[in-house]
Amino acid sequence: MTRNVPVPVTVVGLGSMGRALAEAFVGAGHPTTVWNRTPARAAPLVAKGAVHAEEVRAAVEASPLVITCLTTFEDTRSALEPAAPALAGRALVTLNSGSPAGARAMAGWATGHGARFLAGAVKNVPAAVGAPDTLLYYGGDKAVFDEYETTLKVLGGDTVHLGHESDLAALYEMAVGAMLLPALAGFFQGAAAVQARGLTADSTVRFAGKWLEMIASLLPVYAREIDSGDYTDAASSVNLFLAGAAQEAELSEETNVDTTWLAPLHALLERAVEAGHGDHSISALTEVLRQPGRKAA
Ligand SMILES: NC(=O)c1ccc[n+]([C@@H]2O[C@H](COP(=O)([O-])OP(=O)(O)OC[C@H]3O[C@@H](n4cnc5c(N)ncnc54)[C@H](OP(=O)(O)O)[C@@H]3O)[C@@H](O)[C@H]2O)c1
Repeated sequence: MTRNVPVPVTVVGLGSMGRALAEAFVGAGHPTTVWNRTPARAAPLVAKGAVHAEEVRAAVEASPLVITCLTTFEDTRSALEPAAPALAGRALVTLNSGSPAGARAMAGWATGHGARFLAGAVKNVPAAVGAPDTLLYYGGDKAVFDEYETTLKVLGGDTVHLGHESDLAALYEMAVGAMLLPALAGFFQGAAAVQARGLTADSTVRFAGKWLEMIASLLPVYAREIDSGDYTDAASSVNLFLAGAAQEAELSEETNVDTTWLAPLHALLERAVEAGHGDHSISALTEVLRQPGRKAA
């Protein structure tokens, strides 16, 4: 019955996210060793049953599966450097944000030291770690994923292996993550606009949520248009969005809310019209975003 014995796990990096990861493993009964540059941050986890290693090398040596959650790939490499000789044969899984190039460099370093490597991303906040629908995705060594899938699912039930290339999680994280700041800035602009009328930001939440649901429902339609390169069946055209852009200035005047952060997006709409996409679907902006003179890596 050894199959059901929880695998020993080491968590390196105990910031907001690393703490949540370590707590999930402790909660699921995994023997959990932790290490952090600032050792005091380990104390709450030790109180819950984790073992604190004083040195990062001892932390790595404690488990066959080592999960890191530091700020960047560079931080991860520099923190793990003293433990590099102990990595051979172990599964190393990074869960920080970073670029695809950063993930590839990390993979080269880790496999160069004999580690079996997966680079993953947690697509949620620390409080969601461990929930059945929390999404984490991984790229890299499929054998590591298969061997530890049950253990990795302790961190979130929606656990996906994207492919054998170690930069895939970083690529998808940045591709999908690009939506976050524009969406939030739009919400903050709207909140300020209704507050200017003496209404609460809270009063917009139900409607903003519905709006996000509507946007989500359109993504498969736009993805089909982008993948086929056919933008002619336009339910919402570039021209329609451009007409709406003019109203932003009026709202700004009336509410004294700065809407100039939208100017580059309006310029993008104008470039699309100049390129002949005025009557095309708004998804034709994708064609304007491509930089024809530059070759993708
Ligand atoms: N928090 C979130 O909502 C969230 C969500 C998804 C993904 N993420 C990603 O998860 C990663 C960690 O985020 P976080 O929120 O946990 O960050 P955080 O709270 O700022 O913690 C950063 C961690 O990295 C360690 N660290 C940074 N540079 C280091 C170095 N050079 N050497 C050794 N340790 C170093 C810090 O150690 P010290 O304690 O010694 O400073 C700390 O443990 C980031 O890539 C972040 O983008 C976070």
